[in-house]
Amino acid sequence: MSNHTATKSEPVTHFLTIKDCSRDQLDRIFDFAYKLRGQREQGVINDPILKGKTLGMFFEKPSLRTRVSFEQGMYELGGHAIVLGQNEVGLGKRESVADFTRVLNGMVHGIAARVYNHEHLREMAEHATVPVINMLSDISHPAQALADAMTIMDAFGRGLNGKHVVFVGDGNNVARSLAMICGKLGAAFTLASPPDYALEQAFADRVMAACPGMDFTMCHDPFQAVRYADAVYADTFVSMGQEEEKSKRLKTFKDFQVNEKLMAEAPDHAIVLHCLPAYRGVEITDAVMDGPQSRVFQQAHNRLHAQKGMLAVVMG
Ligand code: CP
Ligand code: NVA
Repeated sequence: MSNHTATKSEPVTHFLTIKDCSRDQLDRIFDFAYKLRGQREQGVINDPILKGKTLGMFFEKPSLRTRVSFEQGMYELGGHAIVLGQNEVGLGKRESVADFTRVLNGMVHGIAARVYNHEHLREMAEHATVPVINMLSDISHPAQALADAMTIMDAFGRGLNGKHVVFVGDGNNVARSLAMICGKLGAAFTLASPPDYALEQAFADRVMAACPGMDFTMCHDPFQAVRYADAVYADTFVSMGQEEEKSKRLKTFKDFQVNEKLMAEAPDHAIVLHCLPAYRGVEITDAVMDGPQSRVFQQAHNRLHAQKGMLAVVMG
């Protein structure tokens, strides 16, 4: 989270990347998340800590989990959410990013956006005096990483020190945020990708600077990578916006499927994660996704709880 002073004197806390979150902020988010989830599980209505507050949500790309978890999360915390799509907003076409932000800034108490270009989120943060929240960009998906970490904690306990998360596939937005949260929480991270789809050196440098001493590895052999995994993670080989590369990518990634053969190399206790939506039979098989090691639906549900924790910290 970045404390950024926009045009006013009050500093505002944005949630754009995991890199900007301190360990203390992450701990507070998870404290809230577990407390709020516990109340919900016992049928207790959460305190309306966001009463009178509205989150303006803008989607330039499709969404199921993110849209529902943020809107439901605002509702459960006593607030409200307005959902806008690109057809009505025309970001960068009908209206500039700066003007979009200036208008929303005077009407709502937080701006959440899913965008193609991460720079648009930075631009929003420059012009906003309310928090700006990243709901996925080409670079990162920090809200997803909160739920990922919570699901790993559910399996192994709050301390992730020494746990090993292995992401099999594309060095993409989800992988970046996951790597960064692993580093912040003391877990090791390995990316097993085809050679041309590793994370860029600049990111590797950033993660090591943000998380000194982190065990961060990149390799090209998924079978070797999962051998000491506590969590094996899959995501689509073709992210939103990469549709034109689909046939090339499907060929390149064919040996990076999370299937029973790969999971046979992983420890029995390893859990399987996927941010979803999953292309079953492509990056993950039915047998693994529906098998005993899979936590993917619990992970999807944790989007609600983890993001409520984040909303409580950022907007509360
Ligand atoms: N994992 C995730 O962000 O899902 P949606 O694209 O459906 O929001
Ligand atoms: N990497 C995927 C994640 C979807 C939630 C994408 O960006 O499309």
